[in-house]
Amino acid sequence: MNDTECPVVTYPMERTDPFHPPPEYAGLRERAPVVPARLSFRPGHDAWLVTRYREARQVLDDTRFSSDSRLPGFPVRRAHSALIRMDPPEHTHYRAMLAPEFVGRRVAELRPVVHRLTGRLLDALDSGPAEVDLVPTLAMPLPSLVICHLLGVSYADHVFLQERTAAALRATSTPEEIDQAVADLGDYMDGVVREKTANPGDDLLSRLVAEQVRTGRCTPEVAADLARLLLVAGHVTTVNMIGLGLLTLLRNPRQLEELRADERLAAPAVTELLRHLSITPSLARVATEDIEVGGCLIKAGDGVMILLSSANRDEREYADPDRFDIHRAERQNLAFGWGPHLCLGASLARLELQVVLTAVARRFPRLELAVDLDDIPFRHKVNIYGVHELPVVLK
Ligand code: HEM
Repeated sequence: MNDTECPVVTYPMERTDPFHPPPEYAGLRERAPVVPARLSFRPGHDAWLVTRYREARQVLDDTRFSSDSRLPGFPVRRAHSALIRMDPPEHTHYRAMLAPEFVGRRVAELRPVVHRLTGRLLDALDSGPAEVDLVPTLAMPLPSLVICHLLGVSYADHVFLQERTAAALRATSTPEEIDQAVADLGDYMDGVVREKTANPGDDLLSRLVAEQVRTGRCTPEVAADLARLLLVAGHVTTVNMIGLGLLTLLRNPRQLEELRADERLAAPAVTELLRHLSITPSLARVATEDIEVGGCLIKAGDGVMILLSSANRDEREYADPDRFDIHRAERQNLAFGWGPHLCLGASLARLELQVVLTAVARRFPRLELAVDLDDIPFRHKVNIYGVHELPVVLK
């Protein structure tokens, strides 16, 4: 890559405020939609940063920007393969197997289940001590209970699954620990696929076995791999949106009060939290051809980082973009990505967030933080942003 006109910045940059992306992003957006950067985590490698909303969508929509992390030039630390890292036509084939399970109607059917599971967790909180960390007691278990229900695996196993998923995604895990956790989840899912083949039920995995494995469209191993991906992709993201979402609402008490009073605000509030927090701050791609984006020529083999957290604060798209406003008129954002890899679980995640945030607001109307904001451990230096702990006083 060579761009002699602008200075090269170093990526990633640090946040200075836990509720906002790194302050340099505004300047980068102003400078250009695409800027060159050194990657501090891959010394000797450069990549392009896509800073603005329109160009971010353009890149995410264009399959000449590959998601295959095994390709040279792909700007990530660890290569791994799964649906999320495939390109068409392979990607289209496998995505189509899961897509019917995540359409709006199917997800809407899960609403009573999400309500019930949330209610149980809140009951347990209600009968426990007033001072509690909401990450292990609410934010972590809810998404794993929901996905266990969806996949049709035993609730009793959710603690094991939650722990193994967390180990696979933990920033402090060694490569051996990550491999072990991924292998454990794979073994578990292989067993479940065998079980669903012998004794089918009314669940996602049984349908996958009946419609895809039995018809020869995919092997049992691939079915287990897709199930494992759903478990992992939907876990850490939703956990952190619950934790950071609650914290953001606690810091904006007037808007929290409005949400408590009017359930119709749940959907726009969740959309605004997703935009404002952009917990998946960036997505990686590599160009497979020479492609022009925003007046800049990206050469075949160049790595690209699409800065979702910058695009979601683009002043060309959003009025007063740094303001958190659940009444905002703009309804679209890139928190779930865009294009062919758009988050498959977006409707489900929205549902979980709408239910849990409203339920907490109603059950504990005077909820407050148990520590100063400075004492909240934020998830810096990891791919998915959020909070490690959320100590509160339940009232
Ligand atoms: C608030 C929570 C969530 C956020 C912020 C989020 C974010 C994302 C993003 C940004 C992508 C695009 C990745 C890329 O283009 O490279 C993605 C993909 C994906 N997400 Fe989510 N996600 C969330 C919840 C979920 C849930 C609950 C599930 C499933 C139960 C899920 C399953 C997936 C899958 C399977 C993909 C891969 C889709 C593909 O490659 O075609 N996600 N997610």
